[in-house]
Amino acid sequence: MMRSIALLAVVACSSSDATLPDAAPEPPETTAYRGTLAIPDYLEVPAIPSFNPPTAEKIALGRRLLYDRRLSGNQTPPCAGCHEQRLAFADGLARPTGSTGTELRRNSPGLANAVYHSTLTWANNGLRVLEDQLQVPIRGDNPIELGVSDANVGEVLARFDGDASYAEMFRAAFPDSASGATSRRSSSRSRASAAAW
Ligand code: HEC
Repeated sequence: MMRSIALLAVVACSSSDATLPDAAPEPPETTAYRGTLAIPDYLEVPAIPSFNPPTAEKIALGRRLLYDRRLSGNQTPPCAGCHEQRLAFADGLARPTGSTGTELRRNSPGLANAVYHSTLTWANNGLRVLEDQLQVPIRGDNPIELGVSDANVGEVLARFDGDASYAEMFRAAFPDSASGATSRRSSSRSRASAAAW
C-alpha cells in the first residue's frame, strides 16, 4: 500500500512536471531591471516602457522629488504628503486635500506594487503608464493636487534649475537630455517604490 502511494506520488509529480512549460528566459535588459528595481525572485519584472529604462540615478532623483515641496505650485506638501512610505505610500485619509485647499474626490491609493496594475487611479481605465499618470498630480486642475499650471510652471522649474545638486543629479540620470524629464524622474521613483516591496 505504502509503495503504491509512493508510486502515485511519483507519477503525479512527473506528469505535472511534464505539463509545466519551461520558464521563459527573460530578455537581458529585463534581468538587469530586476536588480535595479530590487524585485525579489518570486515576482515578475513589470512591463517597463522602453523610452524610460530605470537606472539607480533616476531612482535617486525621483525619490528626492517625491519628498520635495518645491514640486508643488505653492510649495505645500509634495507627492509624499499624500503618499507616505510609512502607510505603504497612502495617507490614511478618506479624502486628501490638494495644495490649494480643494478636497479630492477619492482617497490616495497606496503606491506599493502599483507598477503591476494594468490601469492607474481609481476611475480612469485609460491611464495605463506611470509616466502618463504623473501628469495628473502635477498638472491636473480638477481636482488640484500639486497645482502646477501654465501660469506657474516657469517658476516651479526655476526652483530646480537654480539648485546645483539637482542639476548634477539630473545630468547623471538623463545625460542626453537638457530638460523636460521631470515626469520620467518621478516615474522611476514611483516604479521603484511600487515594485520593490
Ligand atoms: C493631494 C494628494 C495627492 C498628491 C499631492 C499626490 N497624489 Fe498621487 N494620488 C492621489 C489620489 C487621490 C489618487 C487617486 C486619484 C483618483 O483615482 O481619482 C492618486 C493616485 C496616484 C497614483 C496611481 C496609483 C494606482 O495604483 O492607481 C500614482 C502612481 C500617484 N498617485 C503618484 C503620485 C506622485 C508621483 C505624486 C507627486 C508628483 C502624487 N501622486 C501626488 C493623491 C495625491
